[in-house]
Amino acid sequence: MKTLFKTAFILTAIALIHSCAPKAPANKAGIDPQAFNKVIDGKQVSLVTLTNKNGLEMTVTNYGAKVVSLMVPDKNGEMADIVLGFNNIDDYQKFKPYFGAAIGRYGNRIANGEFTLNGEVYHLAKNDGNNHLHGGIKGFNAVVWDMKKVDDHTVKFTYVSKDGEEGYPGELTVHMTYQLTDDNEFKINYEATTDKPTVLNLTHHSYFNLHGEGTETINDLVLYINADNFTPTDSGLIPTGEIIPVAGTPMDFTTPTEIGQRIDADYEPLILGHGYDHNYVLNQEEPKTMVLAATVYDPASGRYMEVHTDEPAIQFYGGNFLDGTVVGKSGIAYPYRSALCLETQHYPDSPNKPNFPSTVLNPGETYTHTCIYKFDVK
Ligand code: GLA
Repeated sequence: MKTLFKTAFILTAIALIHSCAPKAPANKAGIDPQAFNKVIDGKQVSLVTLTNKNGLEMTVTNYGAKVVSLMVPDKNGEMADIVLGFNNIDDYQKFKPYFGAAIGRYGNRIANGEFTLNGEVYHLAKNDGNNHLHGGIKGFNAVVWDMKKVDDHTVKFTYVSKDGEEGYPGELTVHMTYQLTDDNEFKINYEATTDKPTVLNLTHHSYFNLHGEGTETINDLVLYINADNFTPTDSGLIPTGEIIPVAGTPMDFTTPTEIGQRIDADYEPLILGHGYDHNYVLNQEEPKTMVLAATVYDPASGRYMEVHTDEPAIQFYGGNFLDGTVVGKSGIAYPYRSALCLETQHYPDSPNKPNFPSTVLNPGETYTHTCIYKFDVK
């Protein structure tokens, strides 16, 4: 009897100590994986953490294949979460600024929500005024992907988009790999195949702020874009079809320049875009070769990011639609222009612009796309 009491006492004590001991945080960003534990569309949603040998850390969820947090050091080794986002799945379902999301089937806009392919007209949702944006009402940012963590650095996503989904033809199978490499790269590899001719333009929509998410502005960051030309738009942000030089205009980032320096210039494309929200045509000698597309530098923290891709273009979006109403993961409302997206892609509205590089994918072909965001300090 005595031994029984003693054992019970010891067990209770152990249980008590265990429940009082502070739990080791699941990740440096302080994102609780339990807050992502939800069944959506009959599929389990969760959060996984990727790390590398230098202490960088990224959390991702399979709801929209979203990057939820990305911890990178500054020049003193101080870590900060440099992407906008939420700390729970409900907020991701409620708000739609595409924070950290995979975008598809078509990144950016398709005019009037329609296009013609092989003589057939296809009608898509008009979810941005009269136009179609980022794959429609339920784009790849709002579906549950199959997710498999391969190792500490790597997570693989798969999504099969049904024939006719959001109006697009063909059953489309998409594979994406997110990797946090020991070279401090966040690397995305895309692959897709279709069973009918279709159009496709996948991209990634992390909102970066190298000062750390929740800080005031990105207009003091220094940006370089390896593009001599861009595609001007109308007021609905649909390309006019022209490809024009950036030289001599406030669009020119071929030498590193502070983002805010010319943002209020009296220049029509900037006025129509409400700031920077443009597709830059990358200087690329051969199609499908990797180029340095852009760099971003924060002189204050020393954080430096490079973007590399084999896609022909990059959308530079300066957070013009952030309006201080959406409260992010650290309890701070995200201010106007407090993050930027650099979306490697084909040009917006290519299905309606025969002079733009084609976004058609046929059965038997494989779409591939690599995008690398590489972090360093200077
Ligand atoms: C893209 C577009 C912007 C805007 C954002 C989402 O980057 O270029 O015009 O639609 O997505 O708010």
